Amino acid sequence: MNRVLVTGGTGYIGSHTVVELMEKGFDVVIIDNLSNSQIEVLDGIAGITGKRPDFEQVDLRDKANTFNVFRKYPDIGSIIHFAAFKAVGESVEKPLEYYHNNINSLIYLLEAMNAFRVNNFVFSSSCTVYGEPDTLPVTENAPIKKASSPYGNTKQICEEILQDALIPNPDFKIISLRYFNPIGAHPSALIGELPVGVPNNLVPFITQTAIGLRDELRVFGNDYNTPDGYGIRDYINVVDLSRAHVIAIERLLENRQKQKFEIFNLGTGKGLSVLEIIQTFERITGKKLKYRVVDRRDGDVEQVYADPSYANNELGWKAEKTLEETLLSAWSWEKYIRSKYNAKG
Ligand code: NAD
Ligand code: UD1
Repeated sequence: MNRVLVTGGTGYIGSHTVVELMEKGFDVVIIDNLSNSQIEVLDGIAGITGKRPDFEQVDLRDKANTFNVFRKYPDIGSIIHFAAFKAVGESVEKPLEYYHNNINSLIYLLEAMNAFRVNNFVFSSSCTVYGEPDTLPVTENAPIKKASSPYGNTKQICEEILQDALIPNPDFKIISLRYFNPIGAHPSALIGELPVGVPNNLVPFITQTAIGLRDELRVFGNDYNTPDGYGIRDYINVVDLSRAHVIAIERLLENRQKQKFEIFNLGTGKGLSVLEIIQTFERITGKKLKYRVVDRRDGDVEQVYADPSYANNELGWKAEKTLEETLLSAWSWEKYIRSKYNAKG
């Protein structure tokens, strides 16, 4: 029962986590419907690990086929559930699609856990559940604020569903990981973040601007009540983040949980402004970035960064990579992916 089912495993964080799991000797099976990722990601994973993970192209909203995966791989012992829609702005325009995908996928997985006696579950949550926090840095005990988007609401609802699902299932064990802002790529540059269309997130927008794919970066506001006026976030390296998932799985498999439902903030503990990210990127790449300050973006919080001490102490996990190496990894990935696309024509 050493196999880990990774839903959304060809996506950005999922693919990096699959690599970390395989390097630790776990067997993996990925479920992904490729709605926001590409099958070639499996080549990148194989290039790093020397082995191709098992892959099932299934939509988790298709209950029958989701159950078939559990039948096909009876050694599944735990699940990491990444698969979800995640674009904040899009969720405002298509709320029902977001509720339908993010919530039904979770419910069918929980039903499959019941049916196939799988008890260990790791959930991808987000710091968005804290909204605009009252105190910084944010601990896991900070109050949950009303979600500012349907996407954020799906994360809150999913965490509630998970807690309720535990009550009649005393064998279930669940860890919810609340990510701050994951950035960067694998140091090999064989996998990374590949946004479809115009990126919503800061770092892919920066690297695409630097490589000439976008004219300029629009910086959303410099009139915040922060030291330099720019918005502040906690940017966490995606490989560091992925390592925490392996530790969470080991914690579940070894019955080391303090409670049946545990929550951990995954961040560096350091808040950085948009300007600091731009300046660091320029310094390490030697590229001048074209950017312009525009109005604040609707729904953005002023500042949020983690108190990661609970994860540091309880999981024995710590974000290790520097901002410089993380931004360089994002830049190497951008250059690799563009040369690949250009070569393809
Ligand atoms: P991603 O879009 O790169 O990966 C998600 C994967 O899930 C994609 O490959 C997509 O094709 C797949 N998928 C979506 N719906 C599916 C379905 N119904 N059936 C099967 N596969 C489906 O996103 P990511 O950045 O890797 O995020 C992974 C998880 O982490 C998500 O749950 C996201 O909400 C959460 N999260 C991400 C961030 C971030 O900034 N990237 C921050 C906090 C939380
Ligand atoms: C958001 C969500 C988070 C979600 C994540 C993944 C909120 C509060 N946070 O993070 O839950 O998991 O997206 O999609 O909803 N910025 C610019 N110009 C740009 C892009 C971003 O200035 O072109 C600024 C933003 O204003 C912000 C920072 O960069 O200050 C980070 O933005 P982004 O990368 O989009 O992440 P969040 O909005 O923090």
